Parts: sequence; structure tokens; C-alpha cells
Amino acid sequence: MTGSTIRQVRPGSLDDAAVCADIVAGLPEFFTRDVIDKVRTDVTANDPWVSVEDGAVAGFAVVRRRRSTVAEILWAAVSAARRNQGIGTALIEQVLNELRGDGVQLVEVKTLDPAARYAPYAATYGFWTARGFVHVDTIDPLPGWEPGNPCAVLIAALAPTR
Ligand SMILES: CC(C)(COP(=O)(O)OP(=O)(O)OC[C@H]1O[C@@H](n2cnc3c(N)ncnc32)[C@H](O)[C@@H]1OP(=O)(O)O)[C@@H](O)C(=O)NCCC(=O)NCCS
Repeated sequence: MTGSTIRQVRPGSLDDAAVCADIVAGLPEFFTRDVIDKVRTDVTANDPWVSVEDGAVAGFAVVRRRRSTVAEILWAAVSAARRNQGIGTALIEQVLNELRGDGVQLVEVKTLDPAARYAPYAATYGFWTARGFVHVDTIDPLPGWEPGNPCAVLIAALAPTR
């Protein structure tokens, strides 16, 4: 973060759906065009969080509560021009802290398995694993994903389960 940047992570709202979709549209190496509408829908149907930099939304995450103690991060993205500046880390750390405070023990995220040998997602995989997410399974093919995209299932524990 630069010295004068004002950064805030806050719960998202319906009003943020369009900018979240725009962020995804600006990351064509990571997201196919057909998921843009899905992002918009998921932002409105689940629990979005947004990272605001100097008043503008620069990143977002969408959380789905599977049950009281389990959550999934459905989407996470930072605008192309702002990646690798710590925004995603601050966002995910706050989201995980909020979930822990709300009784969540396990958080799942699905991403492209490194076996796909696709460099952009190698960075994403490194992001999640460096933040405590453990690769527990690979599903290939995952229903709903294009063939040839092995899905890595990663889990972070926020609290002991036994
Ligand atoms: C993944 C994403 C949300 C992270 O947000 P971000 O603001 O760029 O992340 P940060 O700047 O906080 O941290 C990036 C980290 O990834 C690390 N990283 C970058 N490239 C890497 C690589 N090839 N291998 C391993 N780690 C890598 C950086 O070193 C940094 O870690 P560090 O702070 O420990 O050094 C963002 O980059 C993004 O939108 N990516 C494209 C969309 C995407 O993949 N979304 C997730 C789908 S599951």
C-alpha cells in the first residue's frame, strides 16, 4: 500500500455487482466471458466483500455459507492494474477473520489445479496456499467447468474441528 492510499474492506451490496463483473471482464487470462453474468448473479445471491482503494472498488470476494461452520469463497479477484499490491491479501484476511468471528471453522476455495500447467493460475494457486489454504483434492472434470480444467479443492481451517 502506498503511503497516502486509503484502503477499506467492507461488505458488498447490490450496487457493487456491476463493478465486480467489470473486474472479472478485465481479467480475460483468468475468466472466460461466459462467467461474467454468473459473477453478477453470485454477488447478489451470496455474501460479497469489496476492497475499496481511494473510494473505488479494486477487488472483491464472494462468500457462500454452505452451513453454519463451513463457507466457500466462490469468487475473488483484484482489478488487473492493481494485482500484486497486497489488496487480495488484505481482503481475504478480513473475510477470514469475519467468518471466524461468525463461527466458521472451514473455508473452501476451488481453483485451477497446477497440473493444468497454466502460468496465470500458478500465481493464483500460490496466493491461496501461501495464505493457509491446503490442497485436499482434485476433481477432473468438475461439473460446470470446461473439460481440461482440473479443479483443485483447497481448504483453510479457521478453528479446530475436534
Ligand atoms: C488472486 C488475486 C485475488 C490475489 O490478489 P492480489 O491483490 O493480486 O494479491 P496480493 O498482492 O495480496 O498477493 C499476491 C501474492 O501472490 C504471490 N504470487 C504472485 N505470483 C506468484 C507465483 N507465480 N507463484 C507463487 N506466488 C505468487 C505474490 O508473491 C504475493 O504473495 P506475497 O505477498 O506473499 O509475496 C488476484 O491476483 C487476482 O485477481 N487474480 C486473478 C483472478 C484469480 O485468479 N482469482 C482467484 C480465482 S480462484
